[in-house]
Amino acid sequence: MGWLFNKKSKESADVSLLHTDIHSHLIPGIDDGSPDMETTVQLVKEMYDLGYRKLILTPHVREDSFENDPSTFEGRLEDVVEAVEEAGIDMKFEVGAEHTMDETFTTLMNVNALKSFHDGHLLIEFPFFNLPIRLKEVLFNLQVDGYKLILAHPERYAEYLARDFETLESLKDRGILFQMNVLSLDGYYGSHVLKFAKYLVKNDYIDILGSDLHNIRHIEAMKKAFKNPMIKDLIESGRLINNKF
Ligand SMILES: [Fe+2]
Repeated sequence: MGWLFNKKSKESADVSLLHTDIHSHLIPGIDDGSPDMETTVQLVKEMYDLGYRKLILTPHVREDSFENDPSTFEGRLEDVVEAVEEAGIDMKFEVGAEHTMDETFTTLMNVNALKSFHDGHLLIEFPFFNLPIRLKEVLFNLQVDGYKLILAHPERYAEYLARDFETLESLKDRGILFQMNVLSLDGYYGSHVLKFAKYLVKNDYIDILGSDLHNIRHIEAMKKAFKNPMIKDLIESGRLINNKF
């Protein structure tokens, strides 16, 4: 039986079932993702070869790290579309942002300048070591404003969220979608994150699998991850909503 298991475990998941990736850093030169258009085209080609047909580009918007706000990158989508078309790759795109919930977020929220995608979906990131301040109030206001919230990689907040089931449950109760990183479930971010990722999958918290793609190292790690039986099972479970985007 050993050889049967080995054979099965070497097959890759059918990534075409996902169709769309909603989290990536492929607009060149504006965050810690792709540094130039050549790399962007290469990464898009790799995503196409994996089975993806649509990518949502979500540059970081985070205070003290990147001098970004949506006005600095919104127009760059056209450049990416053009370069990818020229390379003969049939990939669709939308642009959003990965908004860290910090002071900059509050400022942008107050002037109605948050960057959502696909009919009001907003990708939000928590700080890695503590919950955002006034979380409940801010989430409430965002939902009143009509945003459909997607929490980026909840498993990466294991440091505090893995022992705060009340908050975890309240986020779900509010209808916030949970986007897990593919690589988390393959141990890329360490055993602490892996353990919490497994818990979240097992308890049906996860709605969307995202690449959080920054560079070619991530692509190589994803090729390996898609052979992981846990990730294959999740993709084939029919529970994920990637293809709704
Ligand atoms: Fe990201």
